[in-house]
Amino acid sequence: MTVASEKLLMRALAGETLPTPPIWMMRQAGRYLPEYRATRAEAGDFLSLCYNSDLAAEVTLQPIRRYGFDAAILFADILLIPEALGADLWFVTGEGPRLSTITSDADFAKLKGPDDVHDHLAPIYETVRILSRELPKETALIGFAGAPWTVATYMIAGRGTPDQGPAHALMAENTAVFDALMERLTLATIEYLSMQIQAGAETVKLFDSWAGSLKGAAFEKYALQPAKTIISALKARHPDVPIIAFPREAGEGYIGFAKATGADCVALDNSVSATWAAENVQKDGCVQGNLASRHMVTGGQDLIDETRAIVEAFRNGPHIFNLGHGITPDADPDNVALMIETVRSA
Ligand code: CP3
Repeated sequence: MTVASEKLLMRALAGETLPTPPIWMMRQAGRYLPEYRATRAEAGDFLSLCYNSDLAAEVTLQPIRRYGFDAAILFADILLIPEALGADLWFVTGEGPRLSTITSDADFAKLKGPDDVHDHLAPIYETVRILSRELPKETALIGFAGAPWTVATYMIAGRGTPDQGPAHALMAENTAVFDALMERLTLATIEYLSMQIQAGAETVKLFDSWAGSLKGAAFEKYALQPAKTIISALKARHPDVPIIAFPREAGEGYIGFAKATGADCVALDNSVSATWAAENVQKDGCVQGNLASRHMVTGGQDLIDETRAIVEAFRNGPHIFNLGHGITPDADPDNVALMIETVRSA
């Protein structure tokens, strides 16, 4: 399949096998870049940066200017949806996010409805509008949201957790309120992503960072089903907008995930090998990934060899080059340039 687009990312998402894969990087605007740290200081803190449309657009553009990535990802966070639903949210430096918790029917009853999120999220839609005006014509604009399960894990525990224990506990002990929260997040996410698309996002990505802790029937019910519901609602409203799903660490759950959910592309973490994924996942369509983020810290010949191996493994089908997870703050910006050069000359 081909789409008439100058944007390589859109062509790969439409299923085209390209001689050189388009490239972008999760967390490409972030603390490893001095220009990001300067703009974040100007904004005051991370959340103020997310809600300042001009500065959020500026940090989104910084890695495009520096490296010429094929796509820009909206600068925001998956935890803005809980805040829009009425949860308190703050970030503790060096530790991560904190939220007011949802553990009872009474906590759930205080949340706003799925259509009530837009006032709070208006600055995010404005960032998208600025970006769709300012990006170079060859650069695609990616919107995103967290998947319901991943967002629910933070809302239930009030923070990031190594094993998502509090969310699994609520699922078992008060299934009704857990399911109600999942449904509220599913509906709010449809509204949020739909507005990002209306504002100019050309594709959207659903981040299910903790999908790997769901097994068997729970994976089907709480990772696959919500993705399917969100994707089919978005496809009904915006039939031509491709969607990327990222059920991180799904392992064998990656097999058939695109077909079952309607996703146009599945993003792979680096726990699966590229050769395995080429055979088992890319056979159904576009894949994205999957260089380990640590190469952006360590660089050198290992980075070159591993980058080439990934490009080679996915060469016979549609592929978007990316990391398997976000780039870390200790990464060396020169290693990012080396990765891009290696992909484009492979
Ligand atoms: O990829 C991008 O560049 C787009 C922007 C983006 C951010 N977070 C910016 C950010 C996206 C897509 C996210 C997604 C996100 N946020 C996820 C899912 C993807 C993943 O990484 O698994 C999750 C789980 C979150 C929640 C979150 N936000 C955590 C746990 C943290 C703290 C951890 C950390 O790295 O400090 C954040 C903060 C955050 N989100 C930063 C950035 C650039 C760092 C904030 C800073 O400048 O201090």
